[in-house]
Amino acid sequence: PPAPLVDRFGRVHTDLRVSLTDRCNLRCTYCMPAEGPGWLPAPQLLTDDELLRLLRLAVERLGIRSLRLTGGEPLLRRGLPDLVARMAALPGRPELSLTTNGIGLARSAAALRAAGLHRVNVSLDTLRPDVFRQLTRRNRLGDVLDGRAAARAAGLDPVKVNAVPVRGVNEDEIPELAAWAARHGYRLRFIESMPLDAQGGWDRAAMVTADEILARLGERWPLTPVPRAGAAPAEEWRLGGTDAVVGVIASVTRPFCGGCDRVRLTADGQLRNCLFATEESDLRELLRSGADDDRIEAAWRSCVAAKAAGHGIGSAEFRRPGRPMSAIGG
Ligand code: GTP
Ligand code: 5AD
Ligand code: SF4
Repeated sequence: PPAPLVDRFGRVHTDLRVSLTDRCNLRCTYCMPAEGPGWLPAPQLLTDDELLRLLRLAVERLGIRSLRLTGGEPLLRRGLPDLVARMAALPGRPELSLTTNGIGLARSAAALRAAGLHRVNVSLDTLRPDVFRQLTRRNRLGDVLDGRAAARAAGLDPVKVNAVPVRGVNEDEIPELAAWAARHGYRLRFIESMPLDAQGGWDRAAMVTADEILARLGERWPLTPVPRAGAAPAEEWRLGGTDAVVGVIASVTRPFCGGCDRVRLTADGQLRNCLFATEESDLRELLRSGADDDRIEAAWRSCVAAKAAGHGIGSAEFRRPGRPMSAIGG
């Protein structure tokens, strides 16, 4: 078996988050400005062959066991089912999951399942069409709901739903969203907004915190904690009187960096040891200059070795990463 991908704190990295594109068909206000963040030029994106070479190396030499496809909006990547089929055929058959806004999933869920995708997480911040339009600047709630239903019908299970509560916009919908997820059997997680938007507008004081989310849920249901699964970012609770489990991803107020098992590859072939890393390792340049697998493996290991203990949001030393979450990968 390959030597594990460890950092200087002994954290073992088995999970690779791969961004397939920085583009998106929504314009969520907590993510990007109305005109978009400015997109990567196409020649800088890894081709399918380049990406597969890196993924093969990751599973064969570095002990990566699970691949999460993100973006931007990963369903906008051309030929996605073929790409997924090639990933599913990699040695060791890595776990394959996708994080999407759900638009287009109604059309592609069955093909993705057939290609070997295991799971999807769908983002959905509101069930109200007018609030959806305000938050995403697009009128597409119906497409998102159809996509999520198609994922379930195609056998992608469990379907998780991600919601970012925004002050004064959808924060009052927290119990409604939880009741809706409980009714349909979706695993809902509320996410604290992070300082990763393209316009630099994040404001800690305006962020809806995990404590507030739990207080709103607690008014409606007694909450019983569910033990956390390994390195999962979500803390979860069972809603009293139901089978439903609701989670909170409290990246800011309760950071989970100590157990992190993730490394990230951007759509333009840059390796990042953290969502909040301020440096990247240029694997695309290595690939395109003819580097052999040993050199790429060494670059990958040294990038992970240099990982910081945590993101340090709120500390005096904190610096935002040089690019937004849409370009890094969610
Ligand atoms: P599963 O639990 O395996 O389904 O995946 P996940 O929850 O890690 O994936 P998902 O893509 O749905 O991510 C949910 C939220 O967690 C997103 O807002 C991510 O940006 C956030 N997240 C994922 N990885 C990290 C991380 O390494 N650090 C922080 N702070 N947040 C992360
Ligand atoms: N902070 C927290 N979550 C965010 N997402 C997008 N931008 C941010 C941010 N700045 C969420 C999306 C999606 C998930 C992948 O990340 O809404 O659910
Ligand atoms: Fe698109 Fe996701 Fe950003 Fe919304 S949060 S604009 S869905 S990349």
